[in-house]
Amino acid sequence: MRLLVTGGAGFIGANFVHAAVREHPDVHVTVLDALTYAGSAESLAPVADDVRLIHGDISDAELVEKLVAESDAVAHFAAETHVDNSLADPEAFLRTNVIGTFTLLESVRRHGIRLHHVSTDEVYGDLALEDPVRFTESTPYNPSSPYSATKAASDMLVRSWVRSYGVRATISNCSNNYGPYQHVEKFIPRQITNVLTGRRPKLYGAGANVRDWIHVTDHNRAVWRILSDGELGRTYLIGADGERDNLTVMRTLLRLMDRDPNDFEHVTDRAGHDLRYAIDPSVLRDELGWAPRHDDFESGLAETIEWYRDNESWWRPLKDASEAMYAERNQ
Ligand code: NAD
Ligand code: DAU
Repeated sequence: MRLLVTGGAGFIGANFVHAAVREHPDVHVTVLDALTYAGSAESLAPVADDVRLIHGDISDAELVEKLVAESDAVAHFAAETHVDNSLADPEAFLRTNVIGTFTLLESVRRHGIRLHHVSTDEVYGDLALEDPVRFTESTPYNPSSPYSATKAASDMLVRSWVRSYGVRATISNCSNNYGPYQHVEKFIPRQITNVLTGRRPKLYGAGANVRDWIHVTDHNRAVWRILSDGELGRTYLIGADGERDNLTVMRTLLRLMDRDPNDFEHVTDRAGHDLRYAIDPSVLRDELGWAPRHDDFESGLAETIEWYRDNESWWRPLKDASEAMYAERNQ
């Protein structure tokens, strides 16, 4: 199979490509990535000899047309992904997440190519802390931020291209990922690298917000299952029963790094901050037989801390610029 992976030089995409090369040596992988601030060829260095990396934009219709025509399937990870950036400057989110997905859809439509669209649980908005139900495939869309609104728009485009044009696509909406190669702007790597660079970790508001954590390799195993055996036109929710509030994650991380669990700062909260995400993954478990392998968050977090300790050369060049941006926002 010839597989085109958009956004394969980003956090989840790079982990996906590593696993594809390791576990499916018969698959020829081409990565299309704009190498924005969030993407890096270095994240693909361990598989550089086995992967073709094309530096380009998913909104470039001519390039996308050529690459899709040469492929049997597309795994679409490319996106602008950071909520805080979308609040500061939403335009790139419209271009990549909406126009970029539209551009891909038009090409897979013309060539009859299988598409898997990677999306987020943030399209469903948020839940109350005590809400007894979790997100399911039929939860109404209710996005809160420019990021989640553009991801919701991209999901709607995929659904309508399936229905109107018979495009052979599936969608997955996953919860918060953690693991190696995640940009230092995101919560967990930011705090790990704050400690490693002598900065104090930063918690938005009181830290009561709940995220549903899943290890990136479990997310990617689910994406592979859906790409292989998912029913066309369906949406699958991916989650690992990993709900934790941010304060608990912060204290766990500090303890694992041999720090005082209260040695962090409260900083300005995020505008419109979603309170709680929670995924009900029963359809994926029951129909596709998927189950997470990292079922112990604390040991997954400890491994992730070790990865950042061992791979300073990967994240060090990003750190000062990322913190300078946060400082401007009082975060
Ligand atoms: P990331 O920000 O780490 O990586 C995104 C990648 O896309 C980067 O390599 C970047 O260079 C590339 N990219 C951006 N704009 C592009 C463009 N116009 N053309 C080509 N490439 C472009 O993101 P991530 O965390 O790896 O997320 C990947 C996907 O998974 C996204 O679609 C995101 O919405 C979704 N998702 C992420 C999470 C999470 O917790 N990180 C959870 C659920 C879903
Ligand atoms: O739910 C899936 C989503 O998870 C993905 O679609 C997004 O692409 C991904 O970025 C992530 O979104 P979040 O906004 O939940 O992730 P982030 O890492 O930015 O923040 C996680 C929580 O931690 C959130 O409640 C905000 C808080 N936070 C974040 C940062 C960067 C802090 O308290 N301090 C921080 O320094």
